[in-house]
Amino acid sequence: MKKILITEFMEKESVDLLASKFEVKYNPKLSDNIDNLINEIDLYDGLIVRNKTLVNELVLSKAINLKFIGRLGVGLDNIDTDYCKKNNVFVQPATGMNADSVAEYVINCSLSLLKNIPLMHDGTIHGQWPRNSIVSKELRGKIIGLLGFGMIGKKVCKLAQAFGSQIVAYDPYISSTVSSEYNISLVELQELFEMADIISIHLPLNHETKDLLNYKAFSQMKKKPIIINSSRGSIVNEQDIIKAYQDTLINGFALDVYESEPVKEKFYKQITNNMNCILTPHIAGVTSESNKRVSQFIAGRIMKFFK
Ligand SMILES: NC(=O)c1ccc[n+]([C@@H]2O[C@H](COP(=O)([O-])OP(=O)(O)OC[C@H]3O[C@@H](n4cnc5c(N)ncnc54)[C@H](O)[C@@H]3O)[C@@H](O)[C@H]2O)c1
Repeated sequence: MKKILITEFMEKESVDLLASKFEVKYNPKLSDNIDNLINEIDLYDGLIVRNKTLVNELVLSKAINLKFIGRLGVGLDNIDTDYCKKNNVFVQPATGMNADSVAEYVINCSLSLLKNIPLMHDGTIHGQWPRNSIVSKELRGKIIGLLGFGMIGKKVCKLAQAFGSQIVAYDPYISSTVSSEYNISLVELQELFEMADIISIHLPLNHETKDLLNYKAFSQMKKKPIIINSSRGSIVNEQDIIKAYQDTLINGFALDVYESEPVKEKFYKQITNNMNCILTPHIAGVTSESNKRVSQFIAGRIMKFFK
C-alpha cells in the first residue's frame, strides 16, 4: 500500500477518503519542523502540503520513494520544482480551486478602501463622527489595472465588470484574443500606472516581478490609486509602499502577502489605525468553500496518479 504524508491542514472528508485507499499520516504540525520532516520523508510515496512546508533540495534528497507532491493551493515557491523535475517527482498544484475566494477578496478590498472604511471605523469608534470629513468613492466607473491576467485576474475582471468598472491589464504573455473575449484593454506597465484608480496584483513572484511596485513605480501613478496585493509578497516593496502612502502617492492599500510570513514586526509596527489600509494574514484564497474544493481536488489527483 502506498504511503502518503500530509503536513498541513486538509479537509477531514478528503483525509478520510485518502485513508481508505492509502496508508496516511496526517500531521499538520510537521510543517513547523523541517528536521522531523527530513527524518521521515524517506518512508513516503506521496506528500501533501500547503505553503508553510519547505520542500527544498535537502528534504527532497532524503525523499527516496517520493513520486507525487500535492500542493493545497497554487504558488509553488516553497517547493524546489527544478529538483522535482530532474528527479521525476510530479508536482500538482490545486490550480484555480481558490481563485473565486481571491477574486472576492479583491472586490471586498476595492469597495472598502474606496469607501475609506478603515478611516471611517477608526473615526467613529473615537467619537469623531467623520461623516463629512472623509469622502468616499464608488467602484462603478473606476479603472481597475490588473497586473497579470491569468486565472485570478480573469475572475476579478468578471466581478469588477458587474460593478461597472473598466478593466485594463498588463500581461505580455496573453493574446489579443483573450483581451477581446474579456472586453479589456491590454496596456503597457507605464500606461497602467498612469490610468488606474485601483491596481491589483495577480502575478507569480520571479526575477521579473520582484520589487515591481517600488517607490519609482508609485511615483508614476497619476490617479493616487488603491493598491491590492494578494499574489506574492516581494512583488511590492514594503518600505516603499508605506512611504508612498505617507507621501500621498496612493490613497490606500490592502496586503495579504508579505516579504516574509508571518509579517515582520518592523513592517506592521509602521501601520497605524488612521491609515486607509487593510492587512490580512495570507487568507485571500482561504474560505471554507475553497478549502473543500482544494482538498477534494488534490485527493482526486493523488488517487488517479497512483491508480
Ligand atoms: N493570497 C492567496 O491566498 C493566494 C491564493 C491563490 C493564488 N495566489 C497567488 O496569486 C498569483 C496569481 O495566481 P493565478 O492563479 O492567477 O496565476 P496564473 O498563473 O493563472 O496567472 C499569472 C499571470 O501572470 C502573467 N505573468 C507572468 N509573469 C508576468 C510578468 N513578468 N509580467 C506580467 N504578467 C506576467 C502570466 O502570463 C499569467 O497570465 C500567484 O502569485 C499565486 O501564488 C495567492
